Amino acid sequence: MSSSYVGRGSRDYLEAGLIAMNAAILLLLGLGLVEGEGRCFFNRTEEHCVCHSLSQESLSSIIQCLPASVVEFWGGDLERYAALTISDLQPSVIDMLETLNIRKLVFGDLLVPEVLLAQVLKFFSYTQVQELVFESCNFVGRSNWTEMAGQNLPILNLRFHNVTSAPLTGHEQGFSSLSGWLETLQELAVTSSHVTALPCAIGRVFRGLRSLDVAQNSLRDESLMPAFCEGAFPQLQLLSLQRNNLTSYHSVCESLQLLHELQHLDLSENKLIAGLASSCQWPMSLRVFNLSGTGLDEVLTPLPPNLEVLDMSCNHLRTLDISLASLKMLFLSQNMLRDVSFVRNFPRLEILHLDYNLIPELPWDELRILGHLRDVTAAGNPYNCSCSGAAGIQMLAGMVHLGPGWPRDYVCHSPPRYQGVLVKDVPVSVLQCNSAAVITPICVILALLCVAGAVYLAQSRSGLFQACRRAVKGS
Ligand SMILES: *[C@@H]1O[C@H](CO)[C@@H](O)[C@H](O)[C@H]1NC(C)=O
Ligand SMILES: *[C@@H]1O[C@H](CO)[C@@H](O)[C@H](O)[C@H]1NC(C)=O
Ligand SMILES: *[C@@H]1O[C@H](CO)[C@@H](O)[C@H](O)[C@H]1NC(C)=O
Ligand SMILES: *[C@@H]1O[C@H](CO)[C@@H](O)[C@H](O)[C@H]1NC(C)=O
Ligand SMILES: *[C@@H]1O[C@H](CO)[C@@H](O)[C@H](O)[C@H]1NC(C)=O
Repeated sequence: MSSSYVGRGSRDYLEAGLIAMNAAILLLLGLGLVEGEGRCFFNRTEEHCVCHSLSQESLSSIIQCLPASVVEFWGGDLERYAALTISDLQPSVIDMLETLNIRKLVFGDLLVPEVLLAQVLKFFSYTQVQELVFESCNFVGRSNWTEMAGQNLPILNLRFHNVTSAPLTGHEQGFSSLSGWLETLQELAVTSSHVTALPCAIGRVFRGLRSLDVAQNSLRDESLMPAFCEGAFPQLQLLSLQRNNLTSYHSVCESLQLLHELQHLDLSENKLIAGLASSCQWPMSLRVFNLSGTGLDEVLTPLPPNLEVLDMSCNHLRTLDISLASLKMLFLSQNMLRDVSFVRNFPRLEILHLDYNLIPELPWDELRILGHLRDVTAAGNPYNCSCSGAAGIQMLAGMVHLGPGWPRDYVCHSPPRYQGVLVKDVPVSVLQCNSAAVITPICVILALLCVAGAVYLAQSRSGLFQACRRAVKGS
């Protein structure tokens, strides 16, 4: 193969790439739209390209993004181009688009006319982009989306963060034009975007969705029942409702009953109350449940029966009167627990986090019989470094991983002479500590020796037998 051929080949490739990228930029950012110097920065090791406020002059800078697998565009206003229509792409451009390596595209700080978005998505049907992210964008206007009907998009993961748009209610028609694509989408995130409702019809379009993240929005108890109506999100496995306006534990339970595949539910940072008692059962498939930072004074029931991971950190729990046979990970940091003997109710426990509670003593006897336990973190508790207390923690440190806080954040609060001393540094030799545990076996051994001696020596040395009995009494 001659070098001129290679040269020509790669030049063609670059030219086609430039045309394609120009087309993309024309679409995505609008030529000459943004004032000032903008350009792209390509990190070859990470295959990551970031472009800021591209202008007509700096446009050629985008050529270096061609080999990137992640490309980000930040800054700009596309409103002027709302009326733009993409004519059908030439075959050479389509070929080029198909060879691009890009897997993920991020658009940030942009004003996007929805009409243009529809056009852009059509363009992406020729690429291998799997993940599309819009961050801090404003979508304006409406598109009828009909052009997208029947189009297939390679995108599996679609994320919107801090975006504004017209409310989703009323968009059902538009969504149904997109259904060919939307039913293959696997992950959808719409976070920090003031979402107040998810109409039932929208959920029914997302037939293949595995993961829905609607954290940090304004969903209320009443919004959930229609969102998770019959037939909505039938394959959903992971649902995050973190930091919304949910209040009733039972009402949330009632609303999610039809999600038969749900495995992971995040309700963290909603202020929950038990509300009216109900016999609601959570989906049997639920394995991971996050109730962190939900203002709980007590454990709300019922809990999903097959849980493997339960996070109730950052609440006001004083006790934990539940038992879960399959639980493997229990997160209880930052509560008001004093007593940890409840661990016996979780026989399969592997990971237990108890940092920053009010626990004076870790129950070594209860913990050591948990055969699967490998990771216990319990820093920042007011430890009672009486001999048995400190010894229990030191023995635990030999058995499991005590986390990054060990030994620095395991500090004695009592008795006075050990206040402020690290638990690790409290002297707890076996003889100093548990006197009963040490002395009883010594007595038994001595007594046995004495009996044996007595038998061996028979009555002939009765004086020695007397001395031995004195020794046992003395110990
Ligand atoms: C590319 O990214 C790597 C890893 O984050 C970083 O160490 C390196 O400095 C970056 N290179 C350039 C040229 O910025
Ligand atoms: C959210 O997006 C707006 C623009 O739409 C921006 O001004 C604001 O800084 C963004 N907020 C955060 C926290 O990123
Ligand atoms: C949701 O809660 C936040 C903070 O608690 C509050 O500011 C906001 O008004 C609430 N939104 C709705 C729709 O209730
Ligand atoms: C639960 O949610 C909190 C706050 O949203 C988060 O920090 C924590 O990692 C989550 N826990 C699990 C087990 O995912
Ligand atoms: C610390 O533990 C010892 C031995 O169990 C007990 O006698 C003592 O009262 C405890 N001190 C505090 C402050 O709880």
